Amino acid sequence: MNAASPLRFLITAGPTREFIDPVRFISNRSSGKMGYALAEAALAVSPNVVLVSGPTALTPPTGVKFVSVTTAQEMAEAVFARFVRSDVVIMAAAVCDFRPKASAKSKIKKQSFGGKLELVPTTDILTELSKRGRTQLLVGFAAETDDVEQNATEKLKRKRLNLIVANAVVAFEAETNRVTLIDATGRKEPLPEMSKRDVAVAIIERVLKLAR
Ligand code: CTP
Repeated sequence: MNAASPLRFLITAGPTREFIDPVRFISNRSSGKMGYALAEAALAVSPNVVLVSGPTALTPPTGVKFVSVTTAQEMAEAVFARFVRSDVVIMAAAVCDFRPKASAKSKIKKQSFGGKLELVPTTDILTELSKRGRTQLLVGFAAETDDVEQNATEKLKRKRLNLIVANAVVAFEAETNRVTLIDATGRKEPLPEMSKRDVAVAIIERVLKLAR
C-alpha cells in the first residue's frame, strides 16, 4: 500500500443465489443497498473501486468497475482474482453459507421430489483471504439476531479482520442502519441510526484512518 496513492477498494454487495434446479434457488433478504452505498462513498476518495455484486434491483454507481455474479462460488472467484490488486476488501455481501449439494440440470418435477434437500457449505471468502499472507485491510459485516457485539467480535477474531461492522438483521431491506464498528484492538464505536449512505461514509472514513 502506497500512502501517496489512493486506496484500491474491492467491495462486495447483495445476496448470492444457490440453485436447486434451473428455476429454484436459495437466497436471503439482502437488498445490496449497504454495499452500493459503500462503493459510492469509496468513489469519493478513490477512482479505483471494484464492486462485485450478487443480484439486486440497484444501479451501480457511475465510475465503479462493476462485476456481476450470481452464486457464492462466482463471488469467491471474482474476489480472489482481484485480491492482489486491492488495498481494502469490504465484504458487505450476504453470501449464502450453504448451497444445495447437487443442482439439477432440469426442473425437478413435484411428483419426483423426495422432500429432502442436502446442503453443503460454500467457500467462506473472508476466511480464505485471511489465511493468505497479506497487506490488504479486511473489513467484514456481521448481521446478527442475538448478542450482536459479542458475536461480531468473535467473528472478527475468527476471520482475522481489521474491522467488523456489527448490525442487527433488522437492517436487511431497510433504508437506515445502526451499526457498531469494532476493530482488531477491540475498540468499539457505536454509531447512531442513520441512512445507509451516512453509515457508508463513516465506514470509509474509519478505513482511511486504519490504512494510515
Ligand atoms: N462471508 C464470506 N463468505 C461466506 C459467508 C460470509 O466472506 N461464504 C462474509 C460476509 O460477507 C460477512 C462476514 O463473512 O462480511 C460474516 O458473514 P456471516 O454470514 O454473518 O458470518 P458467518 O461466518 O457465516 O457466521 P454465522 O453464519 O455462523 O453467523
